[in-house]
Amino acid sequence: MPTHKIEPHLFVIMGATGDLMGRKLLPALLNLSARGTMPPGSLILGVAIETTFNDESFRKHCADELAASGVPGEEIGDSFVKGRLFYQGLPHSTPENYQALAARIETLEKDHHLSGNRIIYLALPPDAFPSAITGLGEAGLANSPGWTRLVIEKPFGHDLTSAQQLNILLHKNFDEEQVYRIDHFLGKETVQNILVFRFANSLFEPLWNRDRIESVEITVAETLGVEHRAKYYETAGALRDMVQNHLTQLLTLTAMEVPSAFDAESIRHEKAKVLQCMSPVPIEDAVFGQYDAGVIEGAAVCAYREEPGVASDSDAETFIALRMEINNWRWQGVPFLLRTGKRMKKRVSKIAISFRCPPILLFQAFGATCMNANTLVMTIQPDEGVDLKFEIKVPGEGVNLASRNLHFRYSEAFKPLPDAYETLLRDIMEGDTTLFVRDDWVEASWALYTPLLESQHGVHPYASGSWGPKEADGLLGDLEHGWIVE
Ligand code: BG6
Repeated sequence: MPTHKIEPHLFVIMGATGDLMGRKLLPALLNLSARGTMPPGSLILGVAIETTFNDESFRKHCADELAASGVPGEEIGDSFVKGRLFYQGLPHSTPENYQALAARIETLEKDHHLSGNRIIYLALPPDAFPSAITGLGEAGLANSPGWTRLVIEKPFGHDLTSAQQLNILLHKNFDEEQVYRIDHFLGKETVQNILVFRFANSLFEPLWNRDRIESVEITVAETLGVEHRAKYYETAGALRDMVQNHLTQLLTLTAMEVPSAFDAESIRHEKAKVLQCMSPVPIEDAVFGQYDAGVIEGAAVCAYREEPGVASDSDAETFIALRMEINNWRWQGVPFLLRTGKRMKKRVSKIAISFRCPPILLFQAFGATCMNANTLVMTIQPDEGVDLKFEIKVPGEGVNLASRNLHFRYSEAFKPLPDAYETLLRDIMEGDTTLFVRDDWVEASWALYTPLLESQHGVHPYASGSWGPKEADGLLGDLEHGWIVE
């Protein structure tokens, strides 16, 4: 978030021929380069198992990938492709191959007068993390004459034990300050705005507690199905794929106390404290679902169990809803309702804060109908913005009430929002860890979901194009307003 000067560096990407590189990293690096954010002289070294590539063919491959991701030809300039991109094959995870990588890095830096500042980005499948981290550490690549930053993508483990093991391995080779764990939700403008909205406005903070708030709902609904990711998703499911990371990030940002300063450690400290006040979620406070066939945006779609690569008796959850509580002075007794799913009615991510109703319904005596709670909704995506629902008198005889919205839309006020990856890559270049996940947060988050991960739960079927299984309504308890996001 804060802006520091970016020093020239070498940006090493392990897994440079993979999906993430083509879809996200290359377009973001191209934009950062074109805007001058990535300083002149900085280079990008792609590393992958293919030995058939050299610098030239890798550049051609990257230009093709950029074109495939929709970047117009005239924007894929030589200064980026030829001026910045290099390739190093690393066919096997052997010490010799990592030594060869270290030697190539030193040669590139010497030839291009770089002072040894390095970013090493693991755009790799999670089962390749351990050998890559060890290989880099043993080849001496955790240290350099300048600074070295290591970037890893979620998932950070698949349960508490594996997350702890990954952290131990990371810390054996790198210092925690060098590690940038990416949860791309944190790079979204609307997610960063949660703290600004809460702490730059004096209006809401006095109301942001158990006295005034009845419930908090966090819904992240997708219309996409599992796509081509069945192999991963069959062993992950929505709890691991979305809740442990993205939804729990939204929860901690919504619930955290005011940090002592707007800096990485103060903010990450307050986020971790929220998780310390939470108990593991019991199975009766969770509803798991799996999509059946149905209709999405007018088109018929198949059931999860009929998707390519999915077992016909799979019990992987494509939907999960949870009722959670935060046991501290601010939030005790306020239900936090989390809900996410694939193949849902529409693509929408929102945080809805429902305020308590006035203690006395003054207008009932006049025959007033309709008395709804005030609701504040932060829309994370799409149609990003903020809505505040309030009650108003319907003009005319009698006292009839109706709900109306004050609304703000980013699209009406600002230029298109930057891509989350661009924001995150810029922050890594700057050395700002605010938007990255700290080791203690990762472990505390996994600890919360351990009983659910270990439970033998079934999955309730739901029709594609619906809001999930009706059993999820049972989590609402005596909340009269039902699910707010629809
Ligand atoms: C990823 C999940 O982390 O986030 C995907 O693995 C999910 O399953 C995606 O679709 C959602 O991200 P976004 O930015 O498209 O909302």
